Amino acid sequence: MGDRVEIFEVGPRDGLQNEKREIPVAEKVALVDCLSQAGFNRIEVASFVSPKKVPQMAGSGDVLTGIKRADGVRYAALTPNMRGYDDAVSAKAGEIAVFASASEGFSKANINATIEESIERFKPILEAARHIDLPVRGYISCVTDCPYDGATAPEKVAEMADRLFALGCYEISLGDTLGQATPDSVARMLLAVREVVPATRLAGHFHDTSGRAMDNIDAALTMGVRVFDAAVGGLGGCPFAPGSAGNVATELVHEHLTRLGYETGLDKDILNQAADMARTMRGS
Ligand code: HMG
Ligand code: MG
Repeated sequence: MGDRVEIFEVGPRDGLQNEKREIPVAEKVALVDCLSQAGFNRIEVASFVSPKKVPQMAGSGDVLTGIKRADGVRYAALTPNMRGYDDAVSAKAGEIAVFASASEGFSKANINATIEESIERFKPILEAARHIDLPVRGYISCVTDCPYDGATAPEKVAEMADRLFALGCYEISLGDTLGQATPDSVARMLLAVREVVPATRLAGHFHDTSGRAMDNIDAALTMGVRVFDAAVGGLGGCPFAPGSAGNVATELVHEHLTRLGYETGLDKDILNQAADMARTMRGS
């Protein structure tokens, strides 16, 4: 049996959040229910953010309460502040995520906070989650490039990873939000981050704007990363990163990893079925 590599499915959140068509909750629930049969351990399905900023995520509570929860699958939600945390807990999210940026420009555009202010917002979330044993993941955006500030210094990413890990995030997902990373910039960034957080607690989150996501996954695999975020059908893009495209497609990452001899535990036919659903939802 090959080495295990986990794909964290983010399509119902990162994938759909940028879609212009108002997608009914029932369609989102159907997509998640299909994904629940594919063998994932973790699926991100919700985001408790301002509906004015991200209208597509407005029905997140209904999605979490509408899905059929499969054994062994944790359903995740983004929580930018305590209000989001309370909503996620009420809707019985199985884990939550705080999301920060390694660059000031994106932090301000995305969550209307400086990096320092964002850390202050996250502290009570992590504190509250600890009391109820709710796992918290930490995202860092713009780990190699920022649409506002240009190239990101690897040391800045390492500093953020260190802080989020110290606050209690069980895993740090490193986001190439813009999809401009290269295998070299990913390797340089990971060299710095691995100094402060073990590779076993890191995930790669690659958007495929420049078609290099798979090469970047290969670079991260070489550096010891064994968790990758992906979205079925390559759905996605971030509304606050102009020009960003979809997440790397889950079914292609699965195929690639399988070819390299890794085990993902995923069912190819169900992935393809979910990818078809995702494409229909997007209307492409
Ligand atoms: P703010 O403007 O600093 O805060 O927003 P505020 O507290 O003054 O609130 C502004 C408005 O949002 C108010 O409504 C609040 O009620 C409402 P209004 O008075 O204008 O009607 N509000 C909320 N509504 C629902 N749920 C909440 C909530 N909090 C406030 N939890 C805030 C701060 C972060 C909330 C806002 O800027 C926001 O929602 N931003 C959207 C951020 C976002 O969702 N970005 C996309 C996800 S991140 C991503 O995609 C990157 C990632 O994939 C990794 C990668 O690729 O790099 C993770
Ligand atoms: Mg993303």
